[in-house]
Amino acid sequence: MKQLEIKTLIKECEYSELPESDRRLVDEAKEATRRAYAPFSKYHVGAALLMDNGKIVTGSNQENAAYPSGLCAERTAVFYASSSYPGVAVRKIAIAAWQKPADDLDPEAGFQAHPVSPCGGCRQALIEYEHLYGNIEVILYGREKTFILPSVASLLPFGFTDF
Ligand code: THU
Repeated sequence: MKQLEIKTLIKECEYSELPESDRRLVDEAKEATRRAYAPFSKYHVGAALLMDNGKIVTGSNQENAAYPSGLCAERTAVFYASSSYPGVAVRKIAIAAWQKPADDLDPEAGFQAHPVSPCGGCRQALIEYEHLYGNIEVILYGREKTFILPSVASLLPFGFTDF
């Protein structure tokens, strides 16, 4: 029997080690958490996309009293990007999450220490654009460590792409 192995090279570093342009994208994702509407979960997620035209498009999670009607930050961002700039490739996405910390004094304290990874539905939505326009690098920010993945496909092997 043939065996197939899936390997992903994930880079891990601290925020300070990222190139300046990636730090900027992470900063935009962190800033976007402030625009989340998350009165139910109180979990504020921000996503920032670097577009091929140099623009940065952000999104945040938007919840709803009818809970499933809300939308994650990543999908809010990528749908906004595609409807603002149809046909323009997404090159990178940075994601950050924030929760009100016990100690409010340090503004950084609310950000998750470890990287936050997109849910299955968002992976599926993102991979659609990856298939259309090419690789989207994924930067998952955490206060203590940040992961960089080469593509959405590396987060979603065997994603549904065709019918
Ligand atoms: N959420 C995101 O925005 N992105 C994800 O990848 C996972 C979860 C949001 C959805 C909901 O508003 C809150 O986080 C708690 O699940």
